[in-house]
Amino acid sequence: MEKASKMQEEKHLTGTLVLSVFTAVLGFFQYGYSLGVINAPQRVIEAHYSRVLGIAPIDRSAMNFTDTNGNMIFPDLEELDVGKSTLTLYWSLSVSIFAIGGMISSFAVGWIGDKLGRVKAMLAVNVLSIIGNLLMGLAKFGPSHILIIAGRAITGLYCGLSSGLVPMYVGEISPTALRGALGTLHQLAIVTGILISQILGLDFLLGSEDMWPLLLGLSGAAALLQFFLLLLCPESPRYLYIKLGKVEEAKKCLKRLRGDYDSTKEIAEMEKEKQEAASEKKVSIRKLFSSSSYRQPVIVALMVQISQQFSGINAIFYYSTNIFVRAGVDQPVYATIGVGVVNTVFTVIAVFLVEKTGRRSLFIAGLIGMLASAVAMTVGLVLLSTFAWMSYVSMVTVFLFVIFFEVGPGPIPWFIVAELFSQGPRPAAIAIAGFCNWTCNFIIGMCFQYIADLCGPYVFMTFAVLLFGFILFTHFKVPETKGKSFEEISAEFRRKGRSATKGPKAATELEGLRGSQEA
Ligand code: GLC
Repeated sequence: MEKASKMQEEKHLTGTLVLSVFTAVLGFFQYGYSLGVINAPQRVIEAHYSRVLGIAPIDRSAMNFTDTNGNMIFPDLEELDVGKSTLTLYWSLSVSIFAIGGMISSFAVGWIGDKLGRVKAMLAVNVLSIIGNLLMGLAKFGPSHILIIAGRAITGLYCGLSSGLVPMYVGEISPTALRGALGTLHQLAIVTGILISQILGLDFLLGSEDMWPLLLGLSGAAALLQFFLLLLCPESPRYLYIKLGKVEEAKKCLKRLRGDYDSTKEIAEMEKEKQEAASEKKVSIRKLFSSSSYRQPVIVALMVQISQQFSGINAIFYYSTNIFVRAGVDQPVYATIGVGVVNTVFTVIAVFLVEKTGRRSLFIAGLIGMLASAVAMTVGLVLLSTFAWMSYVSMVTVFLFVIFFEVGPGPIPWFIVAELFSQGPRPAAIAIAGFCNWTCNFIIGMCFQYIADLCGPYVFMTFAVLLFGFILFTHFKVPETKGKSFEEISAEFRRKGRSATKGPKAATELEGLRGSQEA
């Protein structure tokens, strides 16, 4: 009987569950779109900025944006000596302010998610996305540089909040057996957002002088869609039951999400977690850091984010066209879109792999593959001047680097944090993990170009060294979470901690971990 109900739970993907997960991950789609969208139209927008700012003298032929046939031409900004640094400053701000917005708001995730509930919080933060996108969409009607910077900052605030609220909600409404697969959909939404923005950014689509405001503001459409669909989504039963003690409402929402199956077991699990949460009290971010009982899972939660970002993936996404130019690839823009396609295809594959193979092994396999690709890419770039065919090696290794990323290090960090913590510390843990992810993302965005200039073709060796460290860390410290309950996960932490540290101090700490993470 119990087995049959478990089977039902495992297999049962109801329409409401699908709708709720789809609606939630629209937030991640917008995140991906905003990440990718700023790459392609750089030159047209910079040219527009310089015109608006009056940086370049008006009578310079370079400032004439069309030729005699009315075709658009791009001014060579390198040649515009006056105000080049102002322009660079405005452009860098336009790009990076997005991550700063994300860093700041990710801290508020726990607070807003608990205060309003998961669904209402997602609804409320959506307003930020709509405002931000409107500002960018209307950029031509005002001081465009200010409107774009403000718009990107506000969408960054939205994405920081949604990058925490969405995994929290999806993690809480998913049946255990589908948690990984549904969690991987976050990454799928991001990569789809990146890909669509890359395609729409082509200059004959929306990346043109006339259309770029629409290109920048278009993810507002996803925000609107998300807004209306959220009205149909049930609140997280775990939130209702454990946080608010609304047992009947929780049961109703659970029934909508699971359909007709015996939910006694799941309710019993929530009851257990509720008692646990009551004895744990509310866990603040400060408590998460100061209490030794959370040390192991906090370190793991942060390290998976650091591994994801410092693997160097966004060096590819922010600068791939540049990397392809250096590698002597013809049509670098299309090669970049190729990266987006491969990225998406392998994320789809990861959705299926993650419940079969397990998070930990996929994470390690992905990191090892990235390490090998980084080394091969370096060989390709170093030998480029000796053998012309090395440009193929460089290109193929960029693709392999991305493929291995999507197999594990891409999707897993987005949902594993919700799995590592029980209801009490979960919101705070998701907040700090999100903050860490955004900060590392920002650091790569800001520093990669400098490191690349310094190291030349050896730049990816920096990532290779880091990747080696991340492999060791994952091997020794990261537990397998696939199909496990929170108690089983914390038991795994104890086992790992014991074998790695084997000391009286470690033993005491781990007993503490058992005390608060386990009922
Ligand atoms: C992950 C990362 C994000 C990156 C993307 C690439 O979602 O968090 O920063 O751009 O993967 O696919």
